[in-house]
Amino acid sequence: MLYSVLSALNVQTVLIGLLVVLVVYKLRQRWKYNVPPGPFCWPLIGSYEVIQAKFLHEIFVKYSKKYGPVFTVSVGPYHMVVLNDINSVTEALVKSKSDFADRPLVHSAHMLTEGSKDIIFAKYTPTWKLHRKISVKALRQYLAGNRLEEVLHASMNICLPLMAKENGAFNPENYIDLMVFNILNAVCFGESVELDDPEFMRFMKLSKKINEMTGNGFVEDMFPIMCKIWTTHKYRTIHNMNNELISIIKRKFEEHEETFNIDNVRDFTDSLILARKEAEQEEKAEILSQLSDTHLRQTVFNIFSAGIETSTVTLGFAVRYMAGLPEIQSKVQEEIDRVVGKDRLPTVKDRENLSYTEATLHEVMRLGTAVPLGIPHSTICDTRVGGYDVPKDTMVMINHWALHNDPNYWKDVKKFDPTRYLDENGKLGMKPESWLPFSAGRRGCLGESVAKPELHLIFATLMQKFKITLPEGTNPEIELCGSGAIAIPAPYKVIVKERNLL
Ligand code: HEM
Repeated sequence: MLYSVLSALNVQTVLIGLLVVLVVYKLRQRWKYNVPPGPFCWPLIGSYEVIQAKFLHEIFVKYSKKYGPVFTVSVGPYHMVVLNDINSVTEALVKSKSDFADRPLVHSAHMLTEGSKDIIFAKYTPTWKLHRKISVKALRQYLAGNRLEEVLHASMNICLPLMAKENGAFNPENYIDLMVFNILNAVCFGESVELDDPEFMRFMKLSKKINEMTGNGFVEDMFPIMCKIWTTHKYRTIHNMNNELISIIKRKFEEHEETFNIDNVRDFTDSLILARKEAEQEEKAEILSQLSDTHLRQTVFNIFSAGIETSTVTLGFAVRYMAGLPEIQSKVQEEIDRVVGKDRLPTVKDRENLSYTEATLHEVMRLGTAVPLGIPHSTICDTRVGGYDVPKDTMVMINHWALHNDPNYWKDVKKFDPTRYLDENGKLGMKPESWLPFSAGRRGCLGESVAKPELHLIFATLMQKFKITLPEGTNPEIELCGSGAIAIPAPYKVIVKERNLL
C-alpha cells in the first residue's frame, strides 16, 4: 500500500516537475525573444481547437484574423509559427535565403522515409543538396525531348475509349490515377501500365490509405518516446503499408541496376545510378556515402509518389470544377478547338497558345489548393519574420490555402474566375502575387517543371475529348474531404459525352 502511494506520488512529482520545466522554458522564450502572438496552448497538448480541427488551414485563417498573419500555435509538443500572407511567406522563404530551409524532425515522417533519407523530409544538409541537384538535372534532361507527350498519348489511348464507354455517372478517379501514374512511371522507371495492372492498383490503394490515415497525426509524434517502447496499431499498419510501397521501388531499382547501360540512360532511376557510378570512378568517398541504396531509393520514391498524389488531386479538382461550371468549360473547349483542332491531341508546345486553358488550371490550383499547409519548414538559426523573432529550430508552416483565399489579393475571392490570370490581350499575364501552389525558395517544389506540362496535357486532352457534366441533383459546391496533408475533393461522379459525337 505504502509502496503504491509512494510510486504514485513519484509519478505525480515527475509529471509536475516536467510541467514546471516546460512552463519556465516557455516563459524564458517569451522574455528572450519577441515571438509572434497566438492562442492559449496547453503544455504538451497544445491548442485544443487545433487538435480537434478537421481542416487546420481553416482554423489557422481564423487565428490570423485575430493575431495577425504571423502567429504562434502549439500542436502537441510541436511549437510552430504559421505564416498566412504572401509578405511574410516571401520574407521567410525568399528574402531570408536559407534561414527557413530546414525540416523539423517529425517521428512518423522519419519512419516513413527510412530515417529522413529522402528529399522532402531531409534536413538542410549537403546530402539533401546533392540529391536535389541530381534530381533537378535528371528531370530537366528527361523533359528536354517529347517523351512526356508520347507517354501520355499512349496512356490516353487506353483511358479515353474506356471513359467514353462509361454508361451514366461514374467517378473518374481511376482514369486520372492511371494517366498520372503512367507519366511518373515513365519518368522514374521508363514503364507504362494498363488500368487493371495489379501493381498500379495496389500502389494507388496504399498511397491513398496512407494519406488518409496520416491525416490526423500520430500519438507517437506527440510522445516520441513511444516509438521505442510500444507503437499504436495505426502506426504499425502505416509502417507496414509504407514498407510494401518501398519494396516495390526497391525491386524496380534493383532491376535497373542489373540492366544499366551507361550509353543509354533510360529514365530518372538510371540518372541516379549514373551519378553514383561517376562518384565511384572519381573516388569521391564523401559523395558516395550520400548515395547509399537507401538514399537513392528514397529519392526515386519521393519523385514518384509526391508527383502522383499532388497531380491526381489537382486534376480531380479540375474535372469536378469543370463539371459544375459549364460556361467556363465551353470557353476552354472553344480555345482548344481553335488552337489544337479536333484531329490531334494537345502537345506541350500548345501550352503557350492556350492561355485561357492554362488560366483555368491556375484557378483550379488556387481554389483547390492540393497541399494547403505545404510541408513543414524549420529554422536553421535565430531569425525574424513579420517583425517577430523566430528562434532556431522552430517549426514554420506556410498556409498556402490562406494565401489563395486572401481577400486583400483576390477580388470576389470565392468566385472561380480564370480571367484573373490574363492580361488585356487575353494572354497569360504575370503570376498573381498571392498564387503560390508550388511554394518558393530553397525548398520550393522540385517537380514544378514536370507538374505544369503534365497537368496541361491531361487537362487539355480531357477537355478536347469530353463534355463533362454533373448528374442531376449534385450540389455544384465543392466540399473537401479527409484531413490529410493533401486536400481532396469529396467523392463525386460525372457524366461524360464524347464531343465529336455531339
Ligand atoms: C500539382 C502538382 C504539385 C503541387 C501543387 C506541389 C506542391 C508542392 C509543395 C507545396 C511543396 C512544399 C514546398 C515547401 O516545402 O515549401 C512541394 C515539395 C516537393 N515536391 Fe511538389 N507539388 C506538385 C507536383 C510535384 C511533382 C510532379 C513532383 C515530382 C516530379 C514533386 C516533387 C516534390 C519534391 C521532391 C518536394 C520536396 C522539395 C524539398 O524539400 O526540397 N511535386 N511540392
